[in-house]
Amino acid sequence: MREPHASPPIDVAIHVMSSDAFLRTEYELLESELCDAELDRARRFRSVRHRQAYVAAHALQRWQFARLGVPAGERGAPPADRRASLTHADGLVACALASEGAVGVDAEWLGGVADLSAVARHALAPGEQECLRIAAPGEARELFIRFWTAKEAVSKALGQGLALPFEGIVLAQDPLRVTALPPACGHPHEWHLEDRRVGDHRLALALRRPEGRGVVVRWETVTLERLVRGT
Ligand SMILES: CC(C)(COP(=O)(O)OP(=O)(O)OC[C@H]1O[C@@H](n2cnc3c(N)ncnc32)[C@H](O)[C@@H]1OP(=O)(O)O)[C@@H](O)C(=O)NCCC(=O)NCCS
Repeated sequence: MREPHASPPIDVAIHVMSSDAFLRTEYELLESELCDAELDRARRFRSVRHRQAYVAAHALQRWQFARLGVPAGERGAPPADRRASLTHADGLVACALASEGAVGVDAEWLGGVADLSAVARHALAPGEQECLRIAAPGEARELFIRFWTAKEAVSKALGQGLALPFEGIVLAQDPLRVTALPPACGHPHEWHLEDRRVGDHRLALALRRPEGRGVVVRWETVTLERLVRGT
């Protein structure tokens, strides 16, 4: 009798790029990739750094689709049968594309949270708050941002943004994993999480897929030069 054919692992590509220090000509080239609606949205950012990150993230997503042979839809959206996610933080952008399943990616700058304890009280589960309390001096901020980015990545994979109660997405560390979720967000074992530090940012990726299904995440840093050249 033939062995049942095991499903191949789900492939997730994540491309990461710095969005600081553009030359004007480079920035204009990235802008020329975007549609009118995206350019309108970009112009509404008051901070130049945020505007540049928005433009860079959307140009990076188009570059990613082209590189992976995925046809982009209207406004550069992924085709209906693929899930993609993008993030633009202060100075860093990333795009994730999964061959199957629901994917979410989030990046945050480590210097970006003004009042850690106030946000932590609302966003973290009691066990996570305890991890922060016993963290070594100077490590609590990064740990909070690890939890936060992972929760945002889960929430983005679910298409919920900030609508989900973040304290209900309960995480454990080493390895980073989901241990409990709000109703209708799947079983914790359906979730694959990965995160890492890139310079002074934290990045997290979440994939919801059938429990036990293998996942291969390919992290790649992209230079602005490659993006502009389209290579
Ligand atoms: C709407 C939200 C998803 C945006 O998150 P963010 O961290 O500000 O922004 P990101 O750059 O990571 O993600 C933005 C992208 O998420 C996607 N997105 C927006 N709403 C989404 C939703 N409901 N579900 C999934 N993805 C969504 C979009 O692609 C968006 O990019 P675009 O606006 O350029 O098209 C939401 O979680 C939010 O507003 N978060 C606030 C973050 C915050 O307060 N951080 C401070 C604490 S560290």
